Order: sequence, then structure tokens, then C-alpha cells
Amino acid sequence: MYFDACYEDLLFECCNLLYQLCDAFSVRVCDIFIICASIQILESIFVSHCISSPLVLSTASIPMSSIVSTESLNQIFYNAHTAHGFQAKPVDEALLHKALELAQLAPTAYNTCPMRVVFVKSADGKEKLNKCLMEGNIPQTSEAPVTAIVCFDTEYVQKLPELSPFFDAKAVFDANPAWVQPTMVQNGNLQGGYLILALRAVGLDVGPMSGFDNAAVDAAFLQGTTWKSNFLINIGHANAEKNYPRGPRLAFENATKFA
Ligand SMILES: Cc1cc2nc3c(=O)[nH]c(=O)nc-3n(C[C@H](O)[C@H](O)[C@H](O)COP(=O)(O)O)c2cc1C
Repeated sequence: MYFDACYEDLLFECCNLLYQLCDAFSVRVCDIFIICASIQILESIFVSHCISSPLVLSTASIPMSSIVSTESLNQIFYNAHTAHGFQAKPVDEALLHKALELAQLAPTAYNTCPMRVVFVKSADGKEKLNKCLMEGNIPQTSEAPVTAIVCFDTEYVQKLPELSPFFDAKAVFDANPAWVQPTMVQNGNLQGGYLILALRAVGLDVGPMSGFDNAAVDAAFLQGTTWKSNFLINIGHANAEKNYPRGPRLAFENATKFA
């Protein structure tokens, strides 16, 4: 981890320096050990604080330096399947918070962040949702402990003074109303894709779905808001026996061109 590597090096250098000072000024070595131990305790407090504390948006830009671990690639990509069945195991709400926090870091045009999410988990909510689904999507949605309604906020431009403090992005959309809708769709979809990855990154399985009646979901869950449904994501711990086999994907040469 970045912090570990960084602080271990620092600690090593500090110890070297202290030994040299010790030599130069004839200080007792045991005093130096006490100081080093204190530094180590402070370091461990700092590192554990960094892991457990909520997201603090940093302006520091740490360059991307290496591919993530094989374990992470397997979890988020290679072994991740669309779930068509779920175990009767609840989803820890803290994981939903963490996944949302991660997905919010997706880049969006002018930092518009138009995605909003309704997590449906009550029996009543699930029953209402099932009535809006294509029949083939009902069994897995009934099993999933949580289903996210991934939405767009059609009035996302109103939040831009808060979201874009360094640039008057709202003025751009006020002057170009034709950009409002395509920007919402493009960036809401991007954020939805990030949400799928983020949910997988925190250890949850997902089953995205567009087989439902959007107008019915909007009427049942979003009345009185400026939100509109985009797609659904069943969330939980998959029953892998119900996964479909992996469909083929396009090879690099069939899906790309260099220009
Ligand atoms: C936006 C979106 C909508 C989808 N809609 C449905 C759906 O309504 N019902 C369904 O069974 N699967 C649906 N899927 C699942 C896809 O068929 C599945 O993700 C794809 O075949 C890849 O499967 P894999 O993840 O197992 O490789 C949808 C996926 C996405 C991303």
C-alpha cells in the first residue's frame, strides 16, 4: 500500500539519522529506541486512521504507477459475473455507503454527477418493484437483498454551483440547454458503470437489469422528485450455480482501431 511503503522508508531513514546523531553527541542508544518506538506507534495510528476514515477529497494527484493486484483484477473483472440468483445473506449497509463513495469518484463532464440511487430493500418496496419488472427478472430480484434503482436527476444543473466551485459550469448549460439531456445520459451511464465496479470492489455481486417498465418505476418510487429511472442493479451475494456461462467478448482487433 502507498502509505506503508512510503512511511517504512521514512522510518528507516529516521532511524539511520538518529544513530548518526547518537554517535556524534554520545546519546544513549536506548533513548533512541524509545523515540523510534514512539514514531512507529504514531505511524501505525496514522495508517489505520487513513484506512478507516471516510473519504476526504484530496487535491494531491498521486501518479498511477502499476496495475492493481491479480486478486483485485479477478474480483472486479475476471471472476465477476452478472448474478442471476442470490443467497439468503443480507448486505451490510456500510458496503453500500463505501461503494457509493467510490462510484462518486467517477469522472463526469463538468463534474456534473447526475446519477442518483434508490436502494430498495424493504419487503414492501420489493413487492412494488416486482410489479414493474419483465417476468424473467422477477425471481432474481425477489432473491436479491437489495435492488438499486439507478436514476438520473433531470435537474442536476441546479447542483453545479456546489459541484463545480472553480468554474461556472451552470452558466455553460444555461447558455446551451440542448446539452443538458445528452450530458445527463452520458455521465449518468458512466457513473452507473462505476457503481457496478465499486460494488464488486467492496465484495458484492451485482445483476444489472433494463428489463422493466421505467414509467411504472418512476410512478412507484420517484413521484414528486426530479429523478428518473435509468437501470436497476440487484445487489447481494450471488448463488453462483445460477450464473449463465460467460458470453464471448470482442477481441482487441475487432473492437479497436489506432488512428
Ligand atoms: C444495462 C444492463 C441491462 C441488463 N438487463 C438485463 C435484464 O433485464 N435481464 C437479465 O437477465 N440480464 C440483464 N443484463 C445482464 C447482461 O445480459 C449481462 O451483464 C451480460 O450478458 C454479461 O454477462 P456476464 O457478466 O455474466 O459476463 C443487463 C446488463 C446491463 C449492463
